[in-house]
Amino acid sequence: MALDLRDYVASIQDFPEKGVTFRDISPLMGDGEAYHQATDEIIKFARDKGVEMIVGPEARGFIVGCPVAYALGVGFAPARKKGKLPRETVKATYDLEYGESALYLQKDAIKPGQKVLVTDDLLATGGTIAATIRLVEQLGGIVVGTAFLIELKDLNGREKIKDYDMLRLMEY
Ligand code: PRP
Ligand code: HPA
Repeated sequence: MALDLRDYVASIQDFPEKGVTFRDISPLMGDGEAYHQATDEIIKFARDKGVEMIVGPEARGFIVGCPVAYALGVGFAPARKKGKLPRETVKATYDLEYGESALYLQKDAIKPGQKVLVTDDLLATGGTIAATIRLVEQLGGIVVGTAFLIELKDLNGREKIKDYDMLRLMEY
């Protein structure tokens, strides 16, 4: 019997600030069966799309993407925050509530024409995933899909990535 993955998401009121309900995937990752089930769904999506490479943003995009890459026998490239990648990079900025942030990808991370799946734990405003997609595209990669465990519907991040096929396992 399939598990209801929502049973493995903790909802924490007023974190990281008052008025916000934080959806925490730690229980899902901490349960072998739930993590396996969630990962298997993403593996199927990726396999159907002929994915050749996976890219995920720091830090929780790694948790979702790496086991999928392992299962498919394809590579994983981390999109990282400033000052983490040692060689030449491309950069994409995105808006935060106050100010701006940036993600980087090493220039040789993707081969032009490679079919890429972009993974993250959660879609909120969509800024992080849209920046990650731009990094892949700067390197000539073809984003064939995005995959998330959770979509926060009210923030409408989906609108920013509407041109891409999206898999999400739960919505709040
Ligand atoms: C969180 C989350 C997503 C992003 C979603 O990461 O893991 O990557 O925010 O928000 P958005 O859709 O509004 O961009 P965070 O930046 O907190 O980094 P972390 O994974 O390193 O904790
Ligand atoms: N949970 C986890 N990460 C997040 C959230 C959330 O509710 N919102 C933005 N990033």
